[in-house]
Amino acid sequence: MIKKYVYGDPIPTNAVVGGDIEAGEGEIQYFSEISFGDNIMLSYAMSDDDVVYGLGEANRGLNKRGGVYTSFCTDDPNQTEEKQSFYGAHNFIVISGMVNVGIFIDSPGEVKFDIGFTSTNMLNITPAEKDFVAYIIEGKSAYDVVRQFRGMIGRSYIAPLWAFGFQQSRWSYMNEDEIREVVRRHRENGIPLDAVYLDIDYMEGYKDFTTSDERFPDFPAFVREMREQGVRLVPIIDAGVKIEDGYDVYEEGKQYQFFCKRQDGTDFVAGVWPGKTHFPDFMNSNARNWFGSKYKVLIDSGIEGFWNDMNEPAMFYTEEGIEEAKKYLSEFDFETNDPGKFFELSDKLTHLSNRRKDYESFYHNMDGNIVRHDKVHNLYGAYMTRAAGEAFESIAPDKRVLLFSRASYIGSHRYGGIWTGDNQSWWSHLLMNIRMMPSLNMCGYIYTGADLGGFGSNCTRDLLLRWLAFGIFTPLMRDHSALGTRRQECYAFGDTEDFKNIISIRYSLIPYLYSEYMKACLNDDLLFKPLAFEYPSDDFARTIEDQLIVGDSIMIAPVYEQNAVGRYVYLPEDMLYVVYRSSSMRKYRVMNKGLHFIPAAVNEVPMFIRKNKILPLCRTTQCTDKIDTSMFELIAYADSACEYLMYEDDGISKSFTQPENYTSFAIRDSEGVLTPVSSKKIVKLTLY
Ligand code: GLC
Repeated sequence: MIKKYVYGDPIPTNAVVGGDIEAGEGEIQYFSEISFGDNIMLSYAMSDDDVVYGLGEANRGLNKRGGVYTSFCTDDPNQTEEKQSFYGAHNFIVISGMVNVGIFIDSPGEVKFDIGFTSTNMLNITPAEKDFVAYIIEGKSAYDVVRQFRGMIGRSYIAPLWAFGFQQSRWSYMNEDEIREVVRRHRENGIPLDAVYLDIDYMEGYKDFTTSDERFPDFPAFVREMREQGVRLVPIIDAGVKIEDGYDVYEEGKQYQFFCKRQDGTDFVAGVWPGKTHFPDFMNSNARNWFGSKYKVLIDSGIEGFWNDMNEPAMFYTEEGIEEAKKYLSEFDFETNDPGKFFELSDKLTHLSNRRKDYESFYHNMDGNIVRHDKVHNLYGAYMTRAAGEAFESIAPDKRVLLFSRASYIGSHRYGGIWTGDNQSWWSHLLMNIRMMPSLNMCGYIYTGADLGGFGSNCTRDLLLRWLAFGIFTPLMRDHSALGTRRQECYAFGDTEDFKNIISIRYSLIPYLYSEYMKACLNDDLLFKPLAFEYPSDDFARTIEDQLIVGDSIMIAPVYEQNAVGRYVYLPEDMLYVVYRSSSMRKYRVMNKGLHFIPAAVNEVPMFIRKNKILPLCRTTQCTDKIDTSMFELIAYADSACEYLMYEDDGISKSFTQPENYTSFAIRDSEGVLTPVSSKKIVKLTLY
């Protein structure tokens, strides 16, 4: 049951497209409304044992209690524990306890969620704008609430199958030869690879939709050369358009009035990678169509995927900010001997980027409605994704194009995935990645993942191995690192055997992961589930945040602490423990419900197969083009008949709903004898 409460005159966001929604009458259910000035705060008194899920890309744990979170898309690579805003803004939470109630605050401006931070049992939601929509979703369980919510926000973006391969990135591979070397070293060492990323330096002067002639003299030929080796190149597209006379994107944007404007009608200017840039007005449908159409030039060169970046939008500085800082600097008098004044100055100088004042100084033309940016800030990146996603429908109507973005707002999940932005090579960020996945799925982002190994800071061999051992389960499996950090490719840490083995496990799991991913997208379901969603009456399972159910058949328990030789794992039922050394070397043990210490060396991947579930595995390969889905090995832990329904398609076209996309792997019980049955060839059955 979903009820919709409209406050004032909200700006449409394109977030909600379906569901069985009734207009709410009178006071909002479950929450109390507290007015302050023109604005409203929604409050809920939590019981001691209520769990609060949701918020997608947000800080801290799976249970959001005890923290305060501000939905305001923010470019902040320093994601320490107290940070309130990340790159995405996902205003959906579920309160799960005596009642199971979800609330989605559909507001494109800032929204604050204080979930027992100020006062332990109070949940306070404060939208900065007085005009917003609140949806209240009642369900039988938290899982049920999430699925209803997913139904109302529409089907998640579906990525091509090749995007499930291992992808290598770095800011930046500077030219063709450097990329050839990356591919060669993967192939030489038998490390599977499907894509290499082009960060900003592939462009000419950081100008979107250009390629540098010097670094990539024949770009389409190079794209073809890589493709012949089973590797796709994925270029970055930044939100800001370089101001440069003669640059067509700039000239056209200016001519058609497609850039965001200051109050006086001049085009707003901010400093980003190319220096001075204008921001396309993605809130304007004509500007959106125009920008989207630009992707064609790269698609025509053979490109099949993109990552959209800097679209919070990130601003390093504005002229106004610099002038203000200069003034402070010139007025600073060393002789006054006032440290307070110094800190004021230092604050000015260190907060030149992404200033609130700058976000309040430019405007969008939302198809005739002029709106100040900060009031719709969270839609900006989402609408850039929309611009690209909608354009692909006409540029490549029969083909899936890989697309993911840094900034996002619920609704953009229908056009593309997201990556979680600039994290660090910290063990705590591996744990954050693990805990964030179910929350992202709840908000519709299924094709998603973090920079494996961490973007900023220097990664170590053990951190990368442990992170990859988790990353083999995330749809986006990409190793990415920042300029100036230690090299982070799998071959940068000496012996490559362990890396090869871990990534090879991924390739044997791809048919299962892709099948579970597709089912999650097509059925408004989750790929990553908290244990509590599958074992709702298990009180201990409710408290577990570092083990996840992945799809229907398996539970994972990644190791995320340095020097650990294993970890404690809670089994909510008897399960089959499988430890992988490589894609073909495995050890098995049936383990009983309860708490166990599981040894896991740095080159091992432990996982658990649920009772009466089947895990289908294919032979590992060097790239997804070579995956053979005619033969399977099955691992099952079964004491009775059971079945796994595998979704499979060509991985690139859009015919998702054909019945022939499903293959059954069954274990039949005939007079106490369990035998596998499938239309596929089963080369091996490991049955416990
Ligand atoms: C931003 C992106 C990062 C990229 C860098 C350079 O920080 O988040 O992934 O490498 O810009 O383009």
